[in-house]
Amino acid sequence: MKILSVASEIFPLIKTGGLADVTGALPKILGHLGCETRSLIPGYPTVLAKVEQVRPVHFFSDLFGAPATLLEAQHDGLDLLILDAPSLYDRKGGPYVGADGVDYPDNWRRFSVLSYVASAVAGGLLPDWRPDLVHTHDWQTALTTVYMKYSGNAADVPSVLTIHNLAFQGQFPAKLIRQIGLPPEAMNINCLEYYGDLCFLKGGIQTASAVTTVSPTYAREVLSTDLGMGLDGALLSRLRDFSGIVNGIDTEIWDPATDPYIPANYDYKQIRLRQRNRAALIDAFRLDNTPGPIFAAVTRLTWQKGADMLAEVADEICNLGGKLVILGQGSKDVERALILAAGWRPGQIGVRIGYDEATAHLIHAGCDVMVQPSRFEPCGLTQLYALRYGAVPLVSRTGGLSETIIDANDAAMSARVATGFQFHPVTADNLRLAVHRAFHAYRDPKKWARLQNQGMKANFSWERSAEQYAALYERLIAQRPSTL
Ligand code: ADP
Ligand code: GLC
Repeated sequence: MKILSVASEIFPLIKTGGLADVTGALPKILGHLGCETRSLIPGYPTVLAKVEQVRPVHFFSDLFGAPATLLEAQHDGLDLLILDAPSLYDRKGGPYVGADGVDYPDNWRRFSVLSYVASAVAGGLLPDWRPDLVHTHDWQTALTTVYMKYSGNAADVPSVLTIHNLAFQGQFPAKLIRQIGLPPEAMNINCLEYYGDLCFLKGGIQTASAVTTVSPTYAREVLSTDLGMGLDGALLSRLRDFSGIVNGIDTEIWDPATDPYIPANYDYKQIRLRQRNRAALIDAFRLDNTPGPIFAAVTRLTWQKGADMLAEVADEICNLGGKLVILGQGSKDVERALILAAGWRPGQIGVRIGYDEATAHLIHAGCDVMVQPSRFEPCGLTQLYALRYGAVPLVSRTGGLSETIIDANDAAMSARVATGFQFHPVTADNLRLAVHRAFHAYRDPKKWARLQNQGMKANFSWERSAEQYAALYERLIAQRPSTL
């Protein structure tokens, strides 16, 4: 099967979150299952700087008002198509926001162009390669299937839209419809129209042959008004074709036995070696070298992640004799609150604002408890990395967190299946109670070792999930032409 994956991020070339981890890992595993994936991504400067042996495969003299070149390249086992459109992607900031942290005003154009090119590839743009199926990810590429539907030459190619986060929908003024090269008919309630605006994600939901999200629990949750973010109706209308496939993790990149970012490699049999990583973590964040658990978070500092609650419980963690380490960036208010907390508690709270892959690995290898108080969480990967690294996850019971972590209640402990702590409803008070539970367990070294051991043995590799994607692809290809 030939698959075209279209995404705005892909690890290791460009990453702001879990989306990149998924789009980077999935093609490799699908390769073992007979799927030949090519990944179409924007030619951001960091991408173009990293890839080598780039070959142009198509030149667009006027792609929605600007020239662009479609390039092909290989990188780290990934077969890439890169859209080099300097007027759209050659920017100083990140993939979505400028150096000032504000969304680029032309994101609608930047990502509709990417989606348009994906639809053209689906329609046979490349003489020697046409996909059997197109896999889009999130609002940035959701428009692909709208173009496919309306372009006439790719309407029969089946497609999957994976929603990694329903909170980001790509909503823009209706008047832009002409500028993105779609006919006015696409602006209807069963396609792009959303309360008078264009909604790219809704367009994708309505036109992809199948829609998935990244855990079965989140797939159920988003069908309710509580977590449906206004798109529960659209998703309900696709109920027969909507499912959840939980993410896996790249067990080569996230392997404590071989991780090049950490001073001491280890596995579950040599868990004592973690002490050296703990010492390095203490050094890196200038913490006091005293006993007591190190709580940590590696996260976007946003409302979704409940990052504000971390600041609220920081004092409690310190009063109980623990320490707190945070690596993240996001809401300026939360950043300030955390920096302030660290200022009050030198040696006990360490905060680093920013994005840093190496420090993220060190934190997983050296901390004791990985905290994730998300208000909603489609899947979550940090808790899975934590499990593999012997850091015990403390998570809210929502979305993917609720199905990947088994709470250390008495029954689960005696059945020897517990892997972490869950709390619900998601409030700072409940988080505090969960922190107390973690302290209580930490004081019992045998119990703690069991939790670590059970977590490290849990299997969240991609194989099973990739099989589910491959089965879905196969089914949709067999049903071609699309039944939409
Ligand atoms: P989301 O995609 O919603 O941010 P996930 O848990 O799925 O959440 O994935 C987050 C990914 O981003 C993980 O790989 C995590 O290690 C990484 N990450 C988040 N913040 C940082 C940071 N400040 N520095 C390094 N890596 C980070
Ligand atoms: C999103 C979600 C996160 C998920 C990731 C990868 O960013 O917030 O829960 O793990 O995508 O699918």
